[in-house]
Amino acid sequence: MAIIFNEKSREFHIYNEQISYIIKILDNNQLGNLYYGKRIHQRESFSYLFEGGMRASTSYVFEGDTYFSMQHTKQEYPSYGTTDFRYPAFEIKQKNGSKITNFEFENFNIFKGKKKLENLPATYVENEKEANTLEITLYDKVIKTRLLLSYTIFEDFPIITRSTKFIYEGKEKVILTKAMSCNIDLPDYDYEMVHLSGAWSRERHVKNKKLEQGIQSIYSLRGASSSEHNPFIALKRPSTTEFEGEVYGFSLVYSGNFLAEVLVDTHDTSRVMLGIHPIMFEWVLNKNESFQTPEVVMVYSDKGMNGMSQVYHKLYRTRLARGYWRDKIRPILINNWEATMFDFDEEIILNIAKTASELGIELFVLDDGWFGSRNNDKAGLGDWYVNTKKLPDGIVGLSKKIENMGMKFGLWFEPEMVNKDSDLYRAHPDWIIHTPNRTTSHSRNQYVLDFTRKEVVNYIYEAMSKILREASISYVKWDMNRYITECYSVVRTEEDQGRVMHEYILGVYSLYEKLTSEFPYILFESCASGGARFDPGILYYAPQGWTSDNTDAVERMKIQYGTSYVYPISCMGAHVSEVPNQQVFRTTPLETRANVAYFGAFGYELDLNHLSEEERAIVKKQVKFMKENRELIQKGTFYRLISPFENKLNSWMVVSEDKSEAIVGYYKILNTANEGFKRIKLQGLDENKKYYINDNKEESFFGDELMFAGIPVRSEDFCEHGGDFTSVIYHLNEINK
Ligand code: DGJ
Repeated sequence: MAIIFNEKSREFHIYNEQISYIIKILDNNQLGNLYYGKRIHQRESFSYLFEGGMRASTSYVFEGDTYFSMQHTKQEYPSYGTTDFRYPAFEIKQKNGSKITNFEFENFNIFKGKKKLENLPATYVENEKEANTLEITLYDKVIKTRLLLSYTIFEDFPIITRSTKFIYEGKEKVILTKAMSCNIDLPDYDYEMVHLSGAWSRERHVKNKKLEQGIQSIYSLRGASSSEHNPFIALKRPSTTEFEGEVYGFSLVYSGNFLAEVLVDTHDTSRVMLGIHPIMFEWVLNKNESFQTPEVVMVYSDKGMNGMSQVYHKLYRTRLARGYWRDKIRPILINNWEATMFDFDEEIILNIAKTASELGIELFVLDDGWFGSRNNDKAGLGDWYVNTKKLPDGIVGLSKKIENMGMKFGLWFEPEMVNKDSDLYRAHPDWIIHTPNRTTSHSRNQYVLDFTRKEVVNYIYEAMSKILREASISYVKWDMNRYITECYSVVRTEEDQGRVMHEYILGVYSLYEKLTSEFPYILFESCASGGARFDPGILYYAPQGWTSDNTDAVERMKIQYGTSYVYPISCMGAHVSEVPNQQVFRTTPLETRANVAYFGAFGYELDLNHLSEEERAIVKKQVKFMKENRELIQKGTFYRLISPFENKLNSWMVVSEDKSEAIVGYYKILNTANEGFKRIKLQGLDENKKYYINDNKEESFFGDELMFAGIPVRSEDFCEHGGDFTSVIYHLNEINK
């Protein structure tokens, strides 16, 4: 790994064993990009990769010259309005109304390691040898503004992270109206854009489209990263498969409004940009103020979509997620939401908990409805004190009783919200985000607290931390069930309203930071109406997240498959729930529900007392299986094998780092009469190791057999004889280990 600056050619080459990224200081002192992709040899100059030339209707930078135009130049952080007519990475409105800028190279700094981003989540190193960073400073002398472009390359990952900082030193204020985190101009457009889109209960479905000239983008303007789109895109070659071929991944470490776009110009360049969405964003910079963008994590892989995903998984699991729980095996939990909704009392809760503890479940999570006058979704949010009508001994008493059963206790909060029917709202009606003289829209009868205000965040912090201090709480589920409308903060001046969306998210991060620092042993699970804020920003604070409210095993295959494009399975909350399923009314075998949920942060969400003796015995076995295998599942390498988006089947597997063990899930979504013979070809095994399958030590197979010849799939191996929604788990162990 190195970052080299060649003074003569004025080029930076950032590289490790897997990737190269080459930046050039152009003749106008702005920054161009010469290459980004698979590692190439270092040489004195890569200037031959600079392309220009006389083309009709082009505007040129230098008088008399007909070669150099920004319009045809691949750039690092482009501006609009000189000779480039494409969308810019940023815009700065100046006192005279102009948005024209000229940021010229000033200096650079190369150092070991990686700096923290102020108040923002970001990837990190534990040892400065893990990464090198290049910071390039550009300066616009007319507006006395500096741009600091940061690039970090990791030694062991084909990853470069990027972010941008604006530092203003002029006298008059300037206004940032667009500040993307990064820009990459790729030299052709023979790509498909892959992204994860959906809605409530069908989050992160995989979508693909061929790039075309013009703009293709995904975004959120909802105040959260959203279930509609995830802050991630990948550009893959049309021939790239799950296992082979080139792909670039771009993942934004941010939880608020975002834009991810690819602009293909008419000379075939693909301009990729990610960052905070410019709509609803306007940031005034006064003298000596600065603005830091969120980080983008860029992966280049020539090992297909799985190759890209595995890089994200490992980096996000080990160098984005933090704290005590990062590397700890996760407890098997039971959550009461689907079992009771709001309708419970202590007796009902203890009954569910008792049976759960008898079956080996380790953590009981009390969901919504335990506080204030929260008997339905119309009241109580904001009143974070226990409802003693439901729980006479309070959370303190209940948590003790649960602990006496041998389980840990966890609690649900929705810190950012308030119902009008609450003591908090009655005391502080101006604490919600709303626009004066306009109707404030509700969503699920609730309103968004103005988390841009320190006193609001502090109030919630005090209320939550009191409970977390008093009772014995090992886990917090942090929910968020609506998007932001009528965005405005009544304590802000007119010119600062453009900060509200971003500062709201900074407020959320600040509360997370305070609580996770004060209670480092509490496991935080994020949630947002299911998975509507399932993004790398939140993963920095909460090492697991509720993937979706949809707990149907069949629908979950798509949701978990799509989510795994970027996110490690260790962070995907996945529960076995009752049938018929509450979201889609489908009945699936208990085995399949668990066989899907095993590939996540495993738990249950039902009243186990409603199951038959026989079913409870199955649950006991499932819990035992997960306990024995969760280390492998959480930390192993995950492979998607067969896509549920393209087949009536789904399959995935996880392999231990030393390749001595693997668990494969194979699922029949719909059965076919008299169907063809199927073999499943595994991945990631050691070709020369011999494995036995599912405890059958009579027979063993070399890794190469299992990967290249495959396992013949036999209906009799499936639960319930291989009908619809049935599945099988193959557990591989190296023989004589
Ligand atoms: C939405 C979450 O996704 C559910 O799991 C549950 O916690 C409800 N909110 C409670 O209101």
